[in-house]
Amino acid sequence: MPSSEISIKSAADIEGMRIAGRLGSEVLDYITPFVKVGVTTGELDRLCHEYMVNVQGTIPAPLNYCPPGYTPYPKAICTSVNDVICHGIPGDRILKDGDSVNLDITVIKDGYHGDNSRMFLVGKPTILAKRLSEVTYECMWLGIAMVKPGAHLGDIGHVIQQHAEKNGYSVVREFCGHGIGKVFHEEPQVLHYGRPGTLERLEAGMIFTIEPMINVGRREIRMLPDGWTVKTKDKKWSAQWEHTVLVTETGYEVLTLSAGSPPPPDFIKAPAHAVAA
Ligand code: MF3
Ligand code: CO
Ligand code: CO
Repeated sequence: MPSSEISIKSAADIEGMRIAGRLGSEVLDYITPFVKVGVTTGELDRLCHEYMVNVQGTIPAPLNYCPPGYTPYPKAICTSVNDVICHGIPGDRILKDGDSVNLDITVIKDGYHGDNSRMFLVGKPTILAKRLSEVTYECMWLGIAMVKPGAHLGDIGHVIQQHAEKNGYSVVREFCGHGIGKVFHEEPQVLHYGRPGTLERLEAGMIFTIEPMINVGRREIRMLPDGWTVKTKDKKWSAQWEHTVLVTETGYEVLTLSAGSPPPPDFIKAPAHAVAA
Protein backbone atom coordinates (compact mmCIF):
# COMPACT_ATOMS: atom_id res chain seq x y z
CA MET A 1 0.00 0.00 0.00
CA PRO A 2 1.53 3.36 -0.98
CA SER A 3 1.94 5.93 1.74
CA SER A 4 -0.34 8.23 -0.23
CA GLU A 5 -3.32 6.38 1.27
CA ILE A 6 -2.25 7.36 4.78
CA SER A 7 -3.68 10.75 5.70
CA ILE A 8 -1.38 13.60 6.66
CA LYS A 9 -2.98 15.55 9.44
CA SER A 10 -3.38 19.34 9.29
CA ALA A 11 -2.14 21.60 12.08
CA ALA A 12 -5.73 21.87 13.33
CA ASP A 13 -6.12 18.08 13.27
CA ILE A 14 -2.90 17.66 15.23
CA GLU A 15 -4.03 20.14 17.86
CA GLY A 16 -7.37 18.27 18.17
CA MET A 17 -5.53 14.96 18.46
CA ARG A 18 -3.23 16.33 21.20
CA ILE A 19 -6.29 17.26 23.25
CA ALA A 20 -8.08 13.94 22.65
CA GLY A 21 -4.89 12.01 23.40
CA ARG A 22 -4.28 13.75 26.71
CA LEU A 23 -7.91 13.22 27.73
CA GLY A 24 -7.70 9.53 26.85
CA SER A 25 -4.64 9.21 29.06
CA GLU A 26 -6.32 11.13 31.88
CA VAL A 27 -9.11 8.55 32.00
CA LEU A 28 -6.45 5.95 32.80
CA ASP A 29 -5.01 8.27 35.48
CA TYR A 30 -8.47 8.70 36.96
CA ILE A 31 -9.30 4.98 37.10
CA THR A 32 -5.94 3.82 38.48
CA PRO A 33 -6.81 3.99 42.22
CA PHE A 34 -9.99 1.97 41.61
CA VAL A 35 -8.18 -1.00 40.05
CA LYS A 36 -8.04 -3.08 43.24
CA VAL A 37 -8.81 -6.59 44.47
CA GLY A 38 -12.61 -7.01 44.68
CA VAL A 39 -13.70 -4.49 42.04
CA THR A 40 -15.65 -5.76 39.03
CA THR A 41 -14.69 -4.91 35.48
CA GLY A 42 -18.24 -3.57 35.07
CA GLU A 43 -17.67 -1.08 37.88
CA LEU A 44 -14.45 0.14 36.22
CA ASP A 45 -16.44 0.63 33.01
CA ARG A 46 -19.17 2.53 34.82
CA LEU A 47 -16.67 4.83 36.55
CA CYS A 48 -14.75 5.55 33.32
CA HIS A 49 -17.95 6.11 31.37
CA GLU A 50 -19.23 8.65 33.92
CA TYR A 51 -15.86 10.41 34.06
CA MET A 52 -15.70 10.72 30.28
CA VAL A 53 -19.24 11.98 29.82
CA ASN A 54 -19.75 14.06 32.97
CA VAL A 55 -16.27 15.38 33.81
CA GLN A 56 -14.42 15.52 30.49
CA GLY A 57 -17.26 16.00 28.05
CA THR A 58 -15.82 13.22 25.91
CA ILE A 59 -17.57 10.35 24.16
CA PRO A 60 -16.45 6.75 24.75
CA ALA A 61 -15.60 5.58 21.22
CA PRO A 62 -16.11 1.83 21.89
CA LEU A 63 -19.78 2.15 22.90
CA ASN A 64 -21.87 0.80 20.00
CA TYR A 65 -18.76 0.67 17.79
CA CYS A 66 -19.58 -1.81 15.05
CA PRO A 67 -16.89 -2.71 12.50
CA PRO A 68 -17.93 -4.94 9.56
CA GLY A 69 -18.64 -8.49 10.76
CA TYR A 70 -19.12 -7.43 14.39
CA THR A 71 -22.10 -6.73 16.62
CA PRO A 72 -22.16 -3.30 18.33
CA TYR A 73 -19.68 -3.20 21.23
CA PRO A 74 -21.81 -2.93 24.39
CA LYS A 75 -19.59 -0.97 26.80
CA ALA A 76 -17.48 2.19 27.10
CA ILE A 77 -14.06 0.58 27.66
CA CYS A 78 -12.29 -2.75 27.15
CA THR A 79 -11.14 -4.77 30.18
CA SER A 80 -8.90 -7.68 29.24
CA VAL A 81 -7.95 -9.94 32.18
CA ASN A 82 -5.11 -12.52 32.28
CA ASP A 83 -5.52 -14.77 29.21
CA VAL A 84 -7.80 -12.26 27.47
CA ILE A 85 -5.71 -10.64 24.72
CA CYS A 86 -8.02 -7.73 23.86
CA HIS A 87 -11.60 -6.45 23.65
CA GLY A 88 -12.67 -8.00 26.95
CA ILE A 89 -16.22 -6.82 27.70
CA PRO A 90 -16.69 -5.36 31.21
CA GLY A 91 -19.15 -7.26 33.38
CA ASP A 92 -19.47 -9.18 36.67
CA ARG A 93 -15.91 -10.50 36.78
CA ILE A 94 -14.29 -9.64 40.12
CA LEU A 95 -10.59 -8.82 40.01
CA LYS A 96 -8.61 -10.99 42.38
CA ASP A 97 -5.13 -10.94 43.91
CA GLY A 98 -2.49 -11.51 41.23
CA ASP A 99 -4.74 -10.77 38.25
CA SER A 100 -3.42 -8.70 35.37
CA VAL A 101 -5.82 -6.43 33.48
CA ASN A 102 -5.48 -4.19 30.44
CA LEU A 103 -7.78 -1.18 30.38
CA ASP A 104 -8.17 0.19 26.86
CA ILE A 105 -9.70 3.66 26.63
CA THR A 106 -10.64 5.58 23.52
CA VAL A 107 -12.27 9.00 23.92
CA ILE A 108 -13.71 11.26 21.25
CA LYS A 109 -13.31 15.02 21.78
CA ASP A 110 -14.46 17.51 19.12
CA GLY A 111 -14.53 14.61 16.67
CA TYR A 112 -10.95 13.46 17.36
CA HIS A 113 -10.01 10.05 18.84
CA GLY A 114 -7.47 9.46 21.62
CA ASP A 115 -6.71 5.74 21.98
CA ASN A 116 -4.51 4.23 24.68
CA SER A 117 -4.21 1.37 27.13
CA ARG A 118 -2.20 0.36 30.17
CA MET A 119 -1.66 -2.81 32.14
CA PHE A 120 -2.62 -3.00 35.83
CA LEU A 121 -1.31 -5.68 38.19
CA VAL A 122 -3.91 -6.32 40.88
CA GLY A 123 -2.84 -6.97 44.49
CA LYS A 124 0.49 -8.75 44.77
CA PRO A 125 1.75 -9.31 41.23
CA THR A 126 3.24 -12.62 40.20
CA ILE A 127 6.75 -12.62 38.73
CA LEU A 128 5.24 -13.88 35.47
CA ALA A 129 2.67 -11.09 35.15
CA LYS A 130 5.17 -8.39 36.10
CA ARG A 131 7.77 -9.58 33.59
CA LEU A 132 5.17 -9.97 30.82
CA SER A 133 3.84 -6.45 31.40
CA GLU A 134 7.34 -4.95 31.55
CA VAL A 135 8.56 -6.66 28.38
CA THR A 136 5.36 -5.62 26.56
CA TYR A 137 5.84 -2.02 27.72
CA GLU A 138 9.40 -2.12 26.39
CA CYS A 139 8.09 -3.55 23.11
CA MET A 140 5.70 -0.62 22.71
CA TRP A 141 8.41 1.95 23.43
CA LEU A 142 10.98 0.26 21.19
CA GLY A 143 8.39 0.57 18.43
CA ILE A 144 7.67 4.21 19.27
CA ALA A 145 11.38 5.02 19.22
CA MET A 146 11.60 3.89 15.57
CA VAL A 147 9.10 6.53 14.48
CA LYS A 148 10.52 9.30 12.30
CA PRO A 149 10.11 10.49 8.71
CA GLY A 150 11.70 8.01 6.30
CA ALA A 151 11.41 5.03 8.64
CA HIS A 152 9.19 2.16 7.53
CA LEU A 153 6.30 0.51 9.35
CA GLY A 154 8.25 -2.76 9.08
CA ASP A 155 10.97 -1.23 11.28
CA ILE A 156 8.43 -0.84 14.08
CA GLY A 157 7.11 -4.38 13.76
CA HIS A 158 10.61 -5.78 13.60
CA VAL A 159 11.92 -4.30 16.86
CA ILE A 160 8.75 -5.32 18.69
CA GLN A 161 8.90 -8.90 17.43
CA GLN A 162 12.64 -9.17 18.18
CA HIS A 163 12.24 -8.02 21.77
CA ALA A 164 9.20 -10.23 22.45
CA GLU A 165 10.75 -13.35 20.98
CA LYS A 166 14.14 -12.73 22.62
CA ASN A 167 12.22 -12.94 25.90
CA GLY A 168 10.50 -16.19 24.91
CA TYR A 169 7.17 -14.56 24.14
CA SER A 170 5.05 -14.45 20.96
CA VAL A 171 3.35 -11.62 19.05
CA VAL A 172 -0.37 -11.68 18.22
CA ARG A 173 -0.86 -11.33 14.45
CA GLU A 174 -4.61 -10.86 14.04
CA PHE A 175 -4.80 -7.42 15.68
CA CYS A 176 -2.56 -4.47 15.08
CA GLY A 177 -2.09 -0.76 15.59
CA HIS A 178 -3.91 1.61 13.24
CA GLY A 179 -4.12 5.06 11.81
CA ILE A 180 -6.45 7.28 13.82
CA GLY A 181 -7.93 10.76 13.70
CA LYS A 182 -11.55 11.70 13.07
CA VAL A 183 -11.91 7.98 12.27
CA PHE A 184 -11.27 5.39 15.04
CA HIS A 185 -9.51 2.84 12.80
CA GLU A 186 -8.05 4.02 9.49
CA GLU A 187 -5.00 3.29 7.31
CA PRO A 188 -2.33 2.18 7.93
CA GLN A 189 -2.31 -1.13 9.77
CA VAL A 190 0.63 -1.12 12.17
CA LEU A 191 1.80 -4.72 12.48
CA HIS A 192 3.73 -5.67 15.61
CA TYR A 193 5.98 -8.07 13.69
CA GLY A 194 7.89 -7.73 10.43
CA ARG A 195 11.10 -6.94 8.62
CA PRO A 196 13.11 -3.70 8.57
CA GLY A 197 12.70 -1.49 5.53
CA THR A 198 9.39 -3.03 4.48
CA LEU A 199 5.88 -1.55 4.23
CA GLU A 200 4.91 2.11 4.18
CA ARG A 201 7.38 4.95 4.61
CA LEU A 202 6.52 7.32 7.43
CA GLU A 203 5.96 11.01 6.81
CA ALA A 204 5.52 13.90 9.22
CA GLY A 205 1.85 14.42 10.06
CA MET A 206 0.85 10.77 10.14
CA ILE A 207 -0.85 9.62 13.35
CA PHE A 208 -1.23 5.98 14.37
CA THR A 209 -1.31 3.73 17.39
CA ILE A 210 1.30 1.23 18.51
CA GLU A 211 -0.35 -1.41 20.69
CA PRO A 212 1.52 -4.73 20.81
CA MET A 213 -0.30 -7.77 22.19
CA ILE A 214 2.34 -10.13 23.57
CA ASN A 215 1.66 -13.70 24.75
CA VAL A 216 3.59 -15.78 27.28
CA GLY A 217 2.87 -18.90 25.22
CA ARG A 218 1.82 -19.41 21.64
CA ARG A 219 0.49 -16.61 19.45
CA GLU A 220 -2.77 -18.33 18.41
CA ILE A 221 -6.03 -16.70 19.43
CA ARG A 222 -9.56 -17.84 20.19
CA MET A 223 -12.66 -15.65 19.72
CA LEU A 224 -15.36 -16.13 22.40
CA PRO A 225 -19.00 -16.61 21.37
CA ASP A 226 -19.76 -13.01 22.42
CA GLY A 227 -18.07 -12.03 19.15
CA TRP A 228 -15.64 -9.60 20.81
CA THR A 229 -13.54 -11.16 23.57
CA VAL A 230 -10.23 -12.50 22.22
CA LYS A 231 -8.32 -15.02 24.36
CA THR A 232 -5.12 -16.98 23.94
CA LYS A 233 -5.79 -20.46 22.58
CA ASP A 234 -3.35 -22.04 25.05
CA LYS A 235 -4.85 -20.13 28.03
CA LYS A 236 -1.48 -18.57 28.90
CA TRP A 237 -1.48 -14.89 29.76
CA SER A 238 -1.24 -11.94 27.39
CA ALA A 239 -0.38 -8.27 27.87
CA GLN A 240 -0.82 -5.06 25.89
CA TRP A 241 0.14 -1.38 26.11
CA GLU A 242 -1.00 1.29 23.67
CA HIS A 243 -0.11 4.86 22.74
CA THR A 244 -1.26 7.16 19.92
CA VAL A 245 1.80 8.64 18.19
CA LEU A 246 2.37 11.55 15.77
CA VAL A 247 5.21 11.48 13.25
CA THR A 248 7.03 14.83 13.57
CA GLU A 249 9.71 16.41 11.36
CA THR A 250 12.39 15.13 13.74
CA GLY A 251 10.89 11.93 15.11
CA TYR A 252 7.76 11.37 17.14
CA GLU A 253 5.41 12.91 19.65
CA VAL A 254 3.39 10.62 21.91
CA LEU A 255 -0.10 12.15 22.06
CA THR A 256 -1.54 9.97 24.84
CA LEU A 257 0.50 11.29 27.75
CA SER A 258 -0.69 12.85 31.01
CA ALA A 259 0.48 13.39 34.58
CA GLY A 260 -0.03 9.73 35.48
CA SER A 261 1.63 8.15 32.44
CA PRO A 262 4.35 5.72 33.47
CA PRO A 263 7.78 7.04 32.39
CA PRO A 264 9.36 5.59 29.27
CA PRO A 265 11.98 2.87 29.81
CA ASP A 266 15.53 4.14 30.47
CA PHE A 267 16.67 3.25 26.95
CA ILE A 268 14.40 5.94 25.47
CA LYS A 269 16.12 9.23 24.77
CA ALA A 270 13.84 12.26 24.94
CA PRO A 271 12.83 13.39 21.43
CA ALA A 272 14.35 16.70 20.35
CA HIS A 273 11.18 18.73 20.89
CA ALA A 274 11.05 17.67 24.54
CA VAL A 275 14.63 18.69 25.34
CA ALA A 276 15.00 22.12 26.96
CA ALA A 277 16.91 24.59 24.82
N1 MF3 B 1 -9.31 0.56 21.59
C1 MF3 B 1 -9.16 -0.60 20.76
C2 MF3 B 1 -7.96 -0.35 19.89
O1 MF3 B 1 -6.92 -0.10 20.43
C3 MF3 B 1 -10.36 -0.90 19.95
C4 MF3 B 1 -11.51 -1.30 20.76
S1 MF3 B 1 -12.86 -1.54 19.75
C5 MF3 B 1 -14.06 -1.93 20.84
O2 MF3 B 1 -7.98 -0.30 18.69
F1 MF3 B 1 -15.16 -1.84 20.21
F2 MF3 B 1 -13.78 -3.14 21.33
F3 MF3 B 1 -14.00 -1.10 21.83
CO1 CO C 1 -6.00 1.20 19.07
CO1 CO D 1 -7.18 0.98 22.21
